[in-house]
Amino acid sequence: MKRLTGNEIRDLFIKYFNQHGHMVEPSAPLVPIDDDSLLWINSGVATLKKYFDGRVIPENPKIVNAQKAIRTNDIENVGFTARHHTFFEMLGNFSIGDYFKKDAIKYAWDFLTNDDWIGFDADLLYVTVHPEDEDAYALWRNEIGLSPERIIRIEGNFWDIGEGPSGPNSEIFYDRGPEFEFDTPAEEMYPGGENERYLEIWNLVFSEFNHNKDNTYTPLPNKNIDTGMGLERMASITQEVPTNFDTDLFTPILARIEEISGCKYGEDGNKDVAFKVISDHIRTVSFAVADGALPSNEGRGYVLRRLIRRAVRFSKELDIARAFMYELADPVADVMHGFYPNVSERKAFIKEVIRKEEERFLATLDEGIQIYDQVKQKAESGDGTISGADAFRLYDTYGFPYELTKEYAENDGLRVDEAGFRQEMQAQRERARNARKSGDSMQIQSETLAGITDQSTFTGYQSMHEEAKLLHIIKDDTSVAQAEGGARVELIFDQTPFYATSGGQVADKGQIRSSNASLAVESVYKAPNGQNVHVATVESGTVTTGDVYSLEVLEESRNFITKNHTATHLLHQALKDVLGDHVNQAGSLVEKERLRFDFSHLEGLTDEEIDRVETIVNEKIYSNMRVEIAEMPIADAKEKGAMALFGEKYGDIVRVVDIDQYSVELCGGIHVGSTGEIGLFKIVSETGIGAGVRRIEAVTSRYAVNLYKEKEAVLQSIAGRLKVKENQVDRRVDALVEEKKELEQQIRKLKASGQADTLADMTNEVKDISGIKVLSKEVPAGGAKELREMMDNLKSRAQDAIIALGTVNDNKVSLVVTVPKELTDRFKAGEIMKGMASTVEGKGGGRPDMAQGGGTSPENITNALQFVEDYVKSSQ
Ligand code: ALA
Repeated sequence: MKRLTGNEIRDLFIKYFNQHGHMVEPSAPLVPIDDDSLLWINSGVATLKKYFDGRVIPENPKIVNAQKAIRTNDIENVGFTARHHTFFEMLGNFSIGDYFKKDAIKYAWDFLTNDDWIGFDADLLYVTVHPEDEDAYALWRNEIGLSPERIIRIEGNFWDIGEGPSGPNSEIFYDRGPEFEFDTPAEEMYPGGENERYLEIWNLVFSEFNHNKDNTYTPLPNKNIDTGMGLERMASITQEVPTNFDTDLFTPILARIEEISGCKYGEDGNKDVAFKVISDHIRTVSFAVADGALPSNEGRGYVLRRLIRRAVRFSKELDIARAFMYELADPVADVMHGFYPNVSERKAFIKEVIRKEEERFLATLDEGIQIYDQVKQKAESGDGTISGADAFRLYDTYGFPYELTKEYAENDGLRVDEAGFRQEMQAQRERARNARKSGDSMQIQSETLAGITDQSTFTGYQSMHEEAKLLHIIKDDTSVAQAEGGARVELIFDQTPFYATSGGQVADKGQIRSSNASLAVESVYKAPNGQNVHVATVESGTVTTGDVYSLEVLEESRNFITKNHTATHLLHQALKDVLGDHVNQAGSLVEKERLRFDFSHLEGLTDEEIDRVETIVNEKIYSNMRVEIAEMPIADAKEKGAMALFGEKYGDIVRVVDIDQYSVELCGGIHVGSTGEIGLFKIVSETGIGAGVRRIEAVTSRYAVNLYKEKEAVLQSIAGRLKVKENQVDRRVDALVEEKKELEQQIRKLKASGQADTLADMTNEVKDISGIKVLSKEVPAGGAKELREMMDNLKSRAQDAIIALGTVNDNKVSLVVTVPKELTDRFKAGEIMKGMASTVEGKGGGRPDMAQGGGTSPENITNALQFVEDYVKSSQ
């Protein structure tokens, strides 16, 4: 193995793939462009989504990049481990519908083991694959020749981090040897386990799905390759150092911290944490500011503020008592200069931003730490919990991000009352927005709801009526004990038959009543902790927590919703039967009046296919199949062949809806007992809603009958207007069509004879210009073709004349001119046409005896026709 610097690894990677036909994409800014689904660019693929989902076709389907990335999901861990970072670099090769698993695996293996490139000892590499990915397994086994014990199947090998491309993946691990086992528990000591011996170096993702905003999955237009190699890890291996922080990407930053603090890295565990925290955070902040982000109290800005404050607080471990982080932007810029020059270029600005932020924080920090110490003593002498009010005071007055207080508290073995803190935050927002009634209430609601952990049992699978105790009332985003008539409230009960919107099925409607009050339920949704929240208006009386209410689901609407839900499952399977197994659900909406089903399929359905799907579903309805619903372990459901959305996270126990073996799906929705209850199924429309995704809207039972009734009414109305019986409409329409054809023919004949008269008249208009006969005239004609026909007719009537005709259609001029053979040595049709056409700003040409042309300026058609006469005159 060669010792390679971070920069050398990056260069080698890009060079290797470039030599293998990949185009080099520059590292994109950390602040996403045209993508509001991400706070930061968090992987190589994040900048290439446009190619992956087919919105943009790349010039070359093979791409390589080295991409800077920020991930903020585990800031707390950074500093305490060997390799957690908030900023890191990912090296990736990508294929957009070009090569797939086989070449991706071969490239990766060649790059890692070939002595011309990284040159790892092949015996030290292990791989993992998704348990269902037999292709990847076979490729590693047969193409690469890995022995079975070095290919590990891991359930979690499905790459999916929210919106964007996703798919099964295969990871490559490097074995650093038994000396890195430390005291890891034996059950974690394998490639993919939590250990320091086997390091994951490369993730090969076989992207096949797009994770949509609404958490549905749509097949991507192409099968793609997305890979990611962590640069810092690779550096730690080739440089044979224990952690990423000991690589040349970090050591210059650590050295500067040593200079500033006078402390030594590697001598004291606590101090080392501070070194790691600071060196990680300064990279993130320097790069983020270089790319346009600034510290603030929201979103991206809040992340930067939090990182700077966290680093400053850790600097206390190193006895640094002044603003210092900004000076570290120098080594960051130096280390990265070659590949990321913009940090050097914007260094003065970056330093200024960081220094100001540090100074502001330092000004309050010391005071804050004193306050924290008091708060800590209070908690220690109480129940070991820092109250929400105290955490809020530290945040609001002393600039301690909540997470910082939590981290301090954890270090001191204390807890923080998070729900209390959130309540304080909410109260403050309420104060801030004063009279404003609405606002981003969703956000605030979820904060109140997030604090509610009581159980609420859903009983709606068995019943539509329940007596239940009211546990919580939320009014104007706040928990209250009572609400009066007229108020709009959100209610949580100990149990409820009301279904909350989920899995495409809409919520139930209905009534809530007691002897004291009556409410209408408008919608029901799931709180963050899973309870069903009823959004309702108090129609009369007063509602009070602790009281018992009668909860009544509106049966009529529930019944139609369940019919549509079961029909949706039948439709899904029928589509697979007719179109093939590639059909997969991409979205679904189940309402009372109709159902909507989105699925993957490339072309529109033919009328015949739609008819077959409709017929299959109706046959399943007529045969009145039983719908069996059971809960079972996921493995048993898979055994039954249950359809699930690939990549969707299901719990260990799943609910399986089995329509007599015809359709078996995982589903939490409510269904009919047997398919006969659906009554009738009718497709209303089939349309495309995006690349490779189709949408069917359909109706069942009453609403299908209504649709047929509407069609019947149209038929009756047509019969009425045709003055025939319904069963005679067909014949009457045929007769009318026939009659129309005949009439059209007659019109054509009449026109032709009319034209003959016109032509006869026109021959009277032939002029004699110095002994040459000329006929030049604008005529009505349907276009160039009709104009030529007319001229042929005229020619037979006036054989010795130069004839020029013009007509205007759709603001365009068409022209023809003919010269009798015997005159062509004196007058050339082509030349005449050139003059005519240029008069109407157009072009034309042809033979000496016949030419045609046209132009775009109808107002000059008279001049163009006049040109013929002038031409003849002047050629005498
Ligand atoms: N996009 C994949 C990852 O981030 C390669 O791991």
